[in-house]
Amino acid sequence: MSWGLKNRLARIIRPETGRAVMLAVDHGYFLGPTSGLEDARTAIEPLTPYADALMLTRGVLRSSVGTGVGAPIVLRVSGGTSILSELSNEGITASMEDAIRLNVSAVALSIFVGAEHERQTLLSLTQLVDEGERYGIPVLAVTAVGRDMVRDARYLSLACRIAAELGASFVKTYYCDDFERVVETCPVPVVIAGGKKLPEREALELAHDAVVHGAAGVDMGRNIFQSDNPVGMIRAVRAVVQDNASVDDAFALYQEGVTVQA
Ligand code: 5RP
Repeated sequence: MSWGLKNRLARIIRPETGRAVMLAVDHGYFLGPTSGLEDARTAIEPLTPYADALMLTRGVLRSSVGTGVGAPIVLRVSGGTSILSELSNEGITASMEDAIRLNVSAVALSIFVGAEHERQTLLSLTQLVDEGERYGIPVLAVTAVGRDMVRDARYLSLACRIAAELGASFVKTYYCDDFERVVETCPVPVVIAGGKKLPEREALELAHDAVVHGAAGVDMGRNIFQSDNPVGMIRAVRAVVQDNASVDDAFALYQEGVTVQA
């Protein structure tokens, strides 16, 4: 691993804690105008001070994020499909040169282990890792799960380990029962996605369970930007991940600023 690659990774996963709060706002690349992100600029701007990294596409980065943004960028560079098509049929959607022009700290690509286009996505990962190694850019492999796939430790450890074996610098997956097995068998840091919107307390429990069981943090989207208090929610997630706050203390942070309906 080159110095540059390690340095970029250390911008995202804080060396003091070994953890990261990544804000995932890349959903539009296959979902279109996702609820909560319709006006990307308005949704993202107030959250960036609390994020260790922003994960998004180059289109939203250029159109909706100011060049003065402090948070490092994790650029989604896979896509080519929509929610209406076969999701695993992804390719690489941005070149490494463009990623460098955009001054990103990492690039992200989904792999679809066990899906129709598994091979294509795994070979895209290896291509990206080769290019990333050339320029010192870390690659985040996202273990995308098909509609019919079970998100259990057996499957997720298979997908995470394959991603690491093929050279990913870090991996994003889902939390599951027996999550330690996923982390312990994956030689690179693992962060978790939040998944579908949950009640805020449950989302904080998810983040808490994940870091307690070895996750290097979260790459969370809907449970933050679809909350009725997105700033309170990202502050609460941050307290759990970076400050080891209890779920109760984090939930109290979320509740600051929530308007109680009469
Ligand atoms: C889609 C992604 C999303 O960024 C990911 O699902 C994280 O967002 P959420 O917390 O909303 O699940 O990588 O493939």
